Amino acid sequence: MIRDDIERVLIPSIEIKAKTKELGRRISEDFKGKDIVLVGILKGAVVFMADLMREIDAHVDIDFMEVSSYGSSTKSSGAVRILKDLDLDIEGKNVIIVEDIVDSGLTLNYLTKLLSSRCPACVKVCVLLDKPERRDVKVKIDYEGFRIPNEFVVGYGLDYDGKYRNLPDICILSPRIYKDL
Ligand code: IMP
Ligand code: MG
Repeated sequence: MIRDDIERVLIPSIEIKAKTKELGRRISEDFKGKDIVLVGILKGAVVFMADLMREIDAHVDIDFMEVSSYGSSTKSSGAVRILKDLDLDIEGKNVIIVEDIVDSGLTLNYLTKLLSSRCPACVKVCVLLDKPERRDVKVKIDYEGFRIPNEFVVGYGLDYDGKYRNLPDICILSPRIYKDL
């Protein structure tokens, strides 16, 4: 069972659901009558974005980007490289970047600057999880789900080595999983 690799549940799915609803409501109020482009950062943000978009009462288009910042280790490589760019032209659009977690801040710092350079009406950032202790570069977060301690988490889209994304809760992975490598 994949649950055997979990030390404990940090945020149960019921709390994630309530928070996603709240974030969706705030976004709907802030963008009343406006169209939104949600930009999900692959692959981690897929589960969160799928739930979040259904809580937004506005016209929403979606697109995805994929960047590399982590290999299969639990530490950032520092470099940000685009693996998949947007298909949509975001000029004049209200863009919200949707990300699973902000850690060093490198990914979001880079992406906010990059997307802002394409002349959108605005670029906002929505993250489910924030690990403030690990920040190397400043990132402006407009919609934040939960602040979490400096622990490696998996589930609800977040992975370790491509695994555990399908766990419905946000969980702390047992350290033996990555210490044995
Ligand atoms: P940053 O550029 O250091 O802020 O890294 C952000 C990316 O690192 C996220 O999109 C995640 O893919 C990954 N990441 C950071 N912390 C964790 C974690 O605890 N579990 C799983 N992935 C993480
Ligand atoms: Mg990610």
